[in-house]
Formats: sequence, structure tokens, C-alpha cells
Amino acid sequence: DDMLSWQMPAFHFTPGKNWMNDPNGPVFYKGWYHLFYQYSPAAPVWGLIVWGHAVSRDMVHWRHLPIAMETDKWYDVNGVWTGSTTILPNNELVVLYTGSTNESVQVQNLAYPANPSDPLLVNWVKDPANPVLVPPKWINIKDFRDPTTAWLTPEGRWRMVIGTKVNRTGIAILYDTDDFKSYDLLDTKLHQVDGTGMWECVDFFPVSKNESGGLDTGVIGPGIKHVLKASMDDDRCDYYAIGDYNPKTGTWVPDNPKIDVGIGLRYDYGIYYASKTFYDQNKERRILWSWIKETDSESSDIKKGWASLMAVPRTVALDPLTGSNLLQWPIEELENIRSNLNEFNEVKLEPGSLVPLNVGPTSQLDIMVEFELDKKLTDSLLPLKAGSVPYNCAGHGGAGVRDALGPFGVLVLANKNLTEHTPAYFYIVKGKKGELDTFFCIDQSRSSIAKDVDKSIYGSTVPVLEGEKLSMRILVDHSIVEGYAQGGRSCITSRVYPTEAINDDAQIFLFNNATSITVTASLKTWQMGVSSTNGSGWVWIGP
Ligand code: FRU
Repeated sequence: DDMLSWQMPAFHFTPGKNWMNDPNGPVFYKGWYHLFYQYSPAAPVWGLIVWGHAVSRDMVHWRHLPIAMETDKWYDVNGVWTGSTTILPNNELVVLYTGSTNESVQVQNLAYPANPSDPLLVNWVKDPANPVLVPPKWINIKDFRDPTTAWLTPEGRWRMVIGTKVNRTGIAILYDTDDFKSYDLLDTKLHQVDGTGMWECVDFFPVSKNESGGLDTGVIGPGIKHVLKASMDDDRCDYYAIGDYNPKTGTWVPDNPKIDVGIGLRYDYGIYYASKTFYDQNKERRILWSWIKETDSESSDIKKGWASLMAVPRTVALDPLTGSNLLQWPIEELENIRSNLNEFNEVKLEPGSLVPLNVGPTSQLDIMVEFELDKKLTDSLLPLKAGSVPYNCAGHGGAGVRDALGPFGVLVLANKNLTEHTPAYFYIVKGKKGELDTFFCIDQSRSSIAKDVDKSIYGSTVPVLEGEKLSMRILVDHSIVEGYAQGGRSCITSRVYPTEAINDDAQIFLFNNATSITVTASLKTWQMGVSSTNGSGWVWIGP
């Protein structure tokens, strides 16, 4: 029906039918961006997984291609699972992926394009030497998966990472190889963290302290930090930490042991899992892809016939101002599908105000807002009472709970009487040590009057430096809302399933629920149009 078909995004990648999970093997090759993905072609639920495949010139407009790899060998008959692409110095591609064997053992396999002169890379060959890597004795046969892109070491060998666990310790191990067929396991572990469980989809890449552009995976040297990311099977979130990599010992240590992998920062404080970066040599940047699952019921997914999408691709770089977090930002190509700019300057939001914004249709929007506060905040908050629980988005009741300095922000996908609406907001509170903490949250508790959908309140603190305005960018695309605070220091992706706040019945608002500050908002909104030529929101473009 109308409500279910409305949920299909217009500018977020989805195969449009059946089930998708992790992004796999992203690469730029002969003028085309390739995205492979974990795909269950039989149903909109996880099952026998193959590699789906799509190509794009700009990572916004996609063309779907035939399945790249099927479950047709004993070593992947239970699933062609997650893997990565490596570009060799002669511009040849190799793919390493995990196969689940006829006995459900997790092994690593090698594949390459059947015809390297085909820029679309339609056909793939699996190496006769497969499996090229089996779990070492000390690893459980079901805890050995998701090889990363390989890079050249200073010794001239290829090195890659695989995620595993022993008991409750999550571990990233390293292998060196010369030919991608025989491998040496390094004695040292790249890193491990007790109590974090299985590390899926490990990612490992350099970021520059001085330059805003991205770095190819093997780059080392002064002025470079390394990011280690793991997808935690336990709580289904992607955690990263920034640290130093020693290529000699094959070890990585976090800058701050208190914000180590799995116990510190997340890429995103909403739904965001099994992500993977790649170096885009076309535009010299590092791009992050991530799987965004559904948070409605499985029966709804079956009714609508598809499940999951990808977050918009994001550039990732080290935050030059803090040095202690990444900045994630939608790729600039998305700005090419903006139209119908609306500008609102210095909208005054007194305590308790709710201001509707007339921006036209609201299912596909890019919203950029800046907030200014009417007084110096340091004076206006009482210290946290002894024994009181410090604020966090999830635990304090959402956008309706009023405090001195928050919440204020934007309501999207709101119906006329506000029985459905999704607020994205800031909330400023006194922190544990008396300092001011700014939180960035998305509250799904009133996102839908439907009962069988997730209604969590998401969010986290976001660093705000002296003199900075508060800013957020919100992408609305039917059933997905992505929020970026302070230029991408903190991100939240949510899936929402309104039943009434759809089509022409949805509106957006500015709101200020703070009790003791007036907030002045300036914003721009754009329609995000991808004109549809095939009925499912995609522009199809020829090679
Ligand atoms: C992560 C994951 C990977 C695995 C794949 C199977 O979502 O479980 O660890 O390779 O999905 O589909």
C-alpha cells in the first residue's frame, strides 16, 4: 500500500528487492565506482548470501548489475560473505572474501575480474587455489571472517587484517602474503580488547593530521594516525579509535586507552553496522559505506519486499581541530541533486516555541541549520546535584523533556497534529566535572503511531569548541533520517516508519523546548531530487 511503498528511499542505495547487509569490496575502477553487497536474492530476510553488484559514476546514481559471485563452490556454498578489494600496482584487482564452507567453516577466498578490460567488472572468477586461508587452530572455525583491503608493507609484502575473538576478547590479526595465495600469520596481534566479543568487518586505515584529503591504505609516516574500526557482534554497533600503528611490530595502540575500540567512539550513534572504507584515488579521499538495517518488523519487510539500505557515502578524515575524533560528511556529489533552496535567516525561537517551515514536500530533504544562543552558557546552569545521573539521550525521555538549555532543533516527518514527528536536537547540560556537555540526539519515540517499530532515542555528546556555533545537517529520505552535528563530529542514522507523516502530509518545524534560553536558527533546505525513470526512484545511466 501507499505507506509501505513510500518507505523506499530516493537517494540512498538499496537493491530495491529482497535483503541486503554489508557493503563489500568498494572500489573505483576505470571511471566507475563499484559497490558490492551482501545480498539474499530469495527473500527480504538474511539467508543464503551472494555478492550483489552495482556501479555508479558519482555514488549517487546507480545501475544494478547481475550478481557478481554466487554460492557455487564447496568453500562458499553456505555463503559468499564479506570481503574487500585491493588494487595492485599494475591496476589489477583482487578480492578477498570469507566463504562459509559446506561444513560452515569460515575460510578466506580469492577472486578477480574475469575480464579486467570491462570497466563494469560484470564477471568474476574464483581462484582454483581456494580456500587460500583457513582458521588457525586457536581460532573457532566460526570466528574468522571479513578480510580487509591489503596494503604493501615497507618490506614489500601485502598485509591485511581479519577479525576474530577468543572467549570474550575481540581481536584483529594480521597476515602477510606475496601472492594472495599463501599467507603468514604475524605472531603479534594488531590489537585486542577484552570483553568486546566478536569483531566483525574490521577496518584499518591511515588519516592525516595535517591534510584534509584521504590517504591510500598503505600510507605510513610522520603526521599520520591510524584508525581501527570493528563492528561489534554483541551490540551491533561500529566502534572506532584513533591511534598509532607500528608497521615493524604489526601492532596498533589507541591514543587514549579509555576510548579504545568497542568502549569509546562510534561512527554513528543510531543504526549503522558492518561499515567499510575505501580510498577513492579518483578524488583522493577516503569514503565510508555502511549497512543500515530495517527497524520495523520482519513481516513488514516481507510485505514491502525489500529490507535494508546503505547510508549515503561519507568522506572520513581526522578532525583537524580536536585531533581526537573523525569527521564524517556526505560526499560532495550529493549536492548535485539539491534543488529548490529555501533560506530562513535568524528565526528567533523563544523558550517553548514551535515554528513550522514552509519548504515544499518533505520526504527528500537536505537541511543545514546553525543555532546561536542568547547568552553565555557557563553562568546559566546549576551544578549537577550530587548523586544525580548524568544526562544521556536515551535515558532522559527525549525531545519533550525540558531543561534550562535544551532541547532545541528540528522536527522532521511530522504530521499535522504532531502525533508523528522525529526530532533531531541539541541538549546542553552540566557534565560530571561541572563542564558543559553538548548532546546531539534523534528521538524516535513519536516517529510513528505504528506499534511494531523501533522507537529508541539515539545520541551522544558532540565536541563544541570555543566560539563555535552549534550546527546540524539532516538528510531525510523517506524512511531514513541521517543527522550530522558540528560538521560530522557526531552522527546519528535512524530508520523511521511514519504512517500519516508521509507524502504531502508531512511537515518540518524548528523547535526550542529549553526553558531559559532563546535560540536563533538560520537554515537552508533543499529538495533532494533523483528524478525517477524506472519507477523505483533510480536514475539509470548508460556506461
Ligand atoms: C556482518 C556479517 C559479517 C559476515 C556477513 C555475512 O554483518 O555477519 O561478519 O561476513 O555479515 O552476511
